[in-house]
Amino acid sequence: MRSTLTLVQGDITAQAVDAVVNAANSSLLGGGGVDGAIHRRGGPDILAECRALRAGHYGRGLPTGQAVATTAGRLPARWVIHTVGPVHSATEDRTALLVSCYTQSLRTAAELGARTVAFPAISAGVYRWPLPDAARTAVTTVRAALASDPTAFDEIRFVVFNDRAREAYEAALAEG
Ligand code: APR
Repeated sequence: MRSTLTLVQGDITAQAVDAVVNAANSSLLGGGGVDGAIHRRGGPDILAECRALRAGHYGRGLPTGQAVATTAGRLPARWVIHTVGPVHSATEDRTALLVSCYTQSLRTAAELGARTVAFPAISAGVYRWPLPDAARTAVTTVRAALASDPTAFDEIRFVVFNDRAREAYEAALAEG
């Protein structure tokens, strides 16, 4: 079965997929936005595993552009894949780091055996990445990854939280 790319407007914590991607920060200890929602709804088991990661391999925090998986706790998903997006900069092009969030999250999902993955608009909130470019980068990167291995996943789902984000992703998906 070939992978399908879908777009949903809603709460990423409500997605019944194998893996939900979290727009985390390097501390892995929670925050606002997607991060806050995932920890709030997913419960303490997620944070407990994040703390264990900080006590072990990620003693200095999760670097920007990298991804690591934990349980999804009480979410209707099996795993949370935490990734740290770049903060948008007007002077430095950090696109490669944003691309890495998607490619590393997909690599982690494939390693887990996840067949359905939900992504938020990484960096497009607190990290101030302009939505049109955040959407274009997400769609282009995921499409390229799926083209290189069309049977790796059943569904990759972009989950957007408001109309403006939905319009940005619809435009990016229409760019073909
Ligand atoms: N479901 C889906 N999308 C959401 C949700 C949700 N529950 N909450 C917010 N969003 C959207 C935002 O509207 C934005 O478009 O997710 C996108 C990413 O926004 P943020 O969550 O702010 O993530 P980011 O911009 O990557 O900033 C990460 O914010 O919450 C802190 O701890 C986090 O420090 C980290 C930083």
